Amino acid sequence: MSVELNPVNEVKTDTAAQPPIRKRVFSGIQPTGNIHLGNYLGAIRNWVAEQTHYDNIFCIVDLHAITLPIDPKELRTNTRQMAAILLASGLDTRHCNLFIQSHIHEHAEMSWILNCFTPMGWLNRMTQFKTKAGENLDSVGTGLYCYPVLMACDILLYQTHYVPVGDDQRQHLELTRDLAQRFNSMYKKRVFTIPEGQIREVGARVMSLDDPTKKMSKSDPNPFSRINLLDSPKEIKQKIARATTDSEKLITFDPERPGIYNLLGIYQLLTGQSQQESEDAFAGKGYGDFKAALTEVVVETLRPIQQRYNELLSDRAMLDNILKESADTVRPIAAKTLQTVKDVIGLG
Ligand code: TYM
Repeated sequence: MSVELNPVNEVKTDTAAQPPIRKRVFSGIQPTGNIHLGNYLGAIRNWVAEQTHYDNIFCIVDLHAITLPIDPKELRTNTRQMAAILLASGLDTRHCNLFIQSHIHEHAEMSWILNCFTPMGWLNRMTQFKTKAGENLDSVGTGLYCYPVLMACDILLYQTHYVPVGDDQRQHLELTRDLAQRFNSMYKKRVFTIPEGQIREVGARVMSLDDPTKKMSKSDPNPFSRINLLDSPKEIKQKIARATTDSEKLITFDPERPGIYNLLGIYQLLTGQSQQESEDAFAGKGYGDFKAALTEVVVETLRPIQQRYNELLSDRAMLDNILKESADTVRPIAAKTLQTVKDVIGLG
């Protein structure tokens, strides 16, 4: 089952006779494996929590995943696994559409067009490109360089109002807004809705367990740096036990002590407590007690997700059907925006 969406590109006026029209949310995630607690707390959990408030489109961005080398079999497997994890985490197809980016060719086509409108200077400033390319500037594919443009197309094709993401996507969102504004003003027409980011104050930057000055990342070579959503209770226990803290004793939110600050932040988010309540829970206690409690909260949060994940993954036909129905539902929106863009710039 897939959700019906608002009509495309309509100027919306809410009158007493009409129900208010929901704003559109779009977000994406790469099927690169190792999906972790940072992805969950920074993005997925918020998508789930607010799914009834919006017109939702979520996308597994496999075209982004090929910007770095990836084994074809692994990519295909990761893509289905990602769909199962997102549904198991609570995305509900009565409220959301969930599709695979490469199933809607308009993303790739729009991406070529918007590449032609993106100043290289804007892409040269992208910090994620610099980090990912590292020393390999001459050998990485140009797709990695143009990655933010494809991301902008994902968002703009659907006339998106809000983009819920973690803090690391902030610069990409700014580029998206700049591109949309530039295009609209070049052609003196509101071709694209200007999207706004939804970046939470808490959880938008979950840090590495091993080095809490770096963000938790799928690509970190050290598996002890992150808790993956599919980790077993034993792995979770080991990872939290090894997580970096410091030689002080107090369990408090002290930004000067990034290790405990990060772990306590994870605890607070998963329990739904306030900072004060979380600190109070460990007054007079040590790291041993705290880490045991954190382990239990993480294990119990992930247990039902993992159970449901295994059920969903065992019914591949059902998963594929959800992905196809969603793509069929949202494709006309993307097609309409692309056609408008082609008309405006004189293609065809
Ligand atoms: P990706 O796959 O790296 O991450 C998916 C989501 O998880 C968030 N995230 C984090 N949040 C908090 N703490 C962390 N340590 C952490 N690590 C990751 C990310 O901010 C993201 O929200 N470029 C995007 C995918 C994308 C996209 C889009 C997103 C493609 N097109 C259009 C939004 C709209 C990415 O690589 O996400």
